Amino acid sequence: MFAHSLAADAELRPLEPWQAAEFADHAVRVRADIEEYLPWASIVVDEASARAFLQSYADRQAADEGRIYGIWVDGVLQGGALFRVFDASTGVCEIGVWLGAAARGRGLVTHAVRHMIEWAFRERSMVRVEWLCDPRNTASQAVAKRLDMTHEGTMRAAFEMNGEHRDVQIWAVLATEWIL
Ligand SMILES: CC(C)(COP(=O)(O)OP(=O)(O)OC[C@H]1O[C@@H](n2cnc3c(N)ncnc32)[C@H](O)[C@@H]1OP(=O)(O)O)[C@@H](O)C(=O)NCCC(=O)NCCS
Repeated sequence: MFAHSLAADAELRPLEPWQAAEFADHAVRVRADIEEYLPWASIVVDEASARAFLQSYADRQAADEGRIYGIWVDGVLQGGALFRVFDASTGVCEIGVWLGAAARGRGLVTHAVRHMIEWAFRERSMVRVEWLCDPRNTASQAVAKRLDMTHEGTMRAAFEMNGEHRDVQIWAVLATEWIL
C-alpha cells in the first residue's frame, strides 16, 4: 500500500506482523548470508518467532521508538532496513540493514538507507543518524562510506554475540552535514 521504489523491480515497504509467515520464510532463506553479524537471524526461526520480532517493531513504531521495512525484489522479500533506535527527544536514531546474497551488489540498501536518512532529517528533524558495525564487516562499512558517514570510533568488546565479545564501530551522519 505504501512503497518507495528502489529500482524498476525493487521496493521498500513497511514490514508488519501480518507478514510473519513471509518474513519467517525469508529468514530461513537468508540466514546463512546474514547470521554472522545479526543476532535476530538466529532468533527468527519460524512464524511465531517472526511474528514476535515484527510485533516488537510494531510496538516500537506505535511508541515512535523504532521502525522496520522490507526490501522486495520482483515481489519476493530479499532484505530490509530498520530504525533499531529512534529517540525523537534527543534526535538520535540508528539504522540497521540486511540483504540476502542474491540481492546484493545493486545499491538497494544504500538507496533505502538514503531515503530513511532523508526522512529522519527532513520530516522528523532528527539530529544524528548512527550506523553500528563489526570492524570485519567491510560491506557494511562501504554502505556507511557511500552515505558520507563519519567513522567516529570503535568501542572495544562492546557487543556479545555467540559467546564472543566483539568490537563495534560507530559511524554517523549529522543533519548539519546532510542538509547543507
Ligand atoms: C551490509 C549489506 C546489506 C550490504 O549489501 P550491499 O549489496 O553491498 O549494499 P548495497 O545494496 O548498498 O549495494 C552496494 C553494492 O552495489 C554496487 N552498486 C551498483 N549500483 C549501485 C548504485 N546505483 N548505488 C550504490 N551502489 C551500487 C556497489 O558498488 C556495491 O558493490 P561493491 O560492494 O561490489 O562495490 C550486506 O552485505 C548484508 O546484508 N550483510 C549481512 C548483514 C549485515 O552485515 N548487516 C549490517 C550490519 S551492521
